[in-house]
Amino acid sequence: MKPREIRPKIYSVGAIDWDRRLFDALIPLPDGTSYNSYLVMGSQKTALIDTVDPTMQSVLISNLEQLGIKNLDYVIANHAEQDHSGSLPQVIAKYPQAKIIATPKCKNMLIDLLMLPEERFTTADDKQVISLGDKTLEFIHAPWVHWPETMLTFLREDRILFPCDLFGSHLATTDLYVMDEGQVYEAAKRYYAEIMMPFRTSIEKHLEKLKDYNIEIIAPSHGPMYDKPEFILRAYHSWVFDEPKNIVVLPYTSMHGSTRKMVEYLVGALTQRGVAVKQFDLAVTDIGKLAMALVDAATVVIGTPTVLAGPHPNAAYAAFLTNALRPKLKFASIIGSYSWGGRTVQQLAEMIPKLKVELLEPVLSEGLPKEADFKALDNLAETIAQKHKECNLT
Ligand code: FEO
Repeated sequence: MKPREIRPKIYSVGAIDWDRRLFDALIPLPDGTSYNSYLVMGSQKTALIDTVDPTMQSVLISNLEQLGIKNLDYVIANHAEQDHSGSLPQVIAKYPQAKIIATPKCKNMLIDLLMLPEERFTTADDKQVISLGDKTLEFIHAPWVHWPETMLTFLREDRILFPCDLFGSHLATTDLYVMDEGQVYEAAKRYYAEIMMPFRTSIEKHLEKLKDYNIEIIAPSHGPMYDKPEFILRAYHSWVFDEPKNIVVLPYTSMHGSTRKMVEYLVGALTQRGVAVKQFDLAVTDIGKLAMALVDAATVVIGTPTVLAGPHPNAAYAAFLTNALRPKLKFASIIGSYSWGGRTVQQLAEMIPKLKVELLEPVLSEGLPKEADFKALDNLAETIAQKHKECNLT
């Protein structure tokens, strides 16, 4: 993508990665992503805000050349992760005058990760400003967007916030600004769910801090920019602050159909009682969809057969992931089948210590579920419906 003007002397100079399908060897990217980088040219000095993934550094360099940039004074590193910092070595080699501005922690991480020379850095304190002449950049420390070193950059005169990952969406699009709110909402929610949800209490603080800023544009480092910032601020507020909803998330796996029968029965029993369910077959599901469902759910029920004397590895993965993502869940349970014993319930329960949940009576059937098992599933559905009602979940 060629450079695009956002405002006079402010350009988007990053790269669109249409074909990437996996991030961190973990996170599915069904819609690709972008690595946004922004150039701010003041009357006296020029700053580049974040770089791009090293696989696309030639796009960034070409964009700077097309704009005729002969000198960079500053490269702002809001975040040390390589999809934004990985082109720093080439950028500072091309622009030998450029100083990298980062939080003290980010500086140390960049030296470790990219072996950058210490003398190229200037550290930024919280709320510190630098002048580019007729433009002023303010640095806002925001640790734990999902790494400990992160900061946000605010361009005061144009009221543009550059928050790097925060408010971003993994979405490859030529739209400079959000055009399709539904599409961006889903992509941004997926991104929040996959990496920021565990740091919800830090995100709360960042949202509070940002209330002091009169923001006209949010320019994240993934996905399109927001020229109506309230759209994404409202979405984040809901994901972070709202009570969970009257929803059960049901990730399950089944080997010979017994667990599947129990899952289908429980889904029906919950639906009859007015509880919404989101069911995921772990053998084929997109893990990002599961993460997104966990943002709003009040209860998780994991369905698994017993294999190798414990939960199926797919179910263990779902439990591990749910524990790591630390959603706002209030209740959890386990259903499934076994043939001759095992420690399925104990092992799964031990895998979710970070969830502040009440564990509801599990239901395990010996072989195919029978009348007593279906009755136990009805009881579980009734308990969940009652618990949700007592918490006033809607
Ligand atoms: Fe987009 Fe945490 O990097």
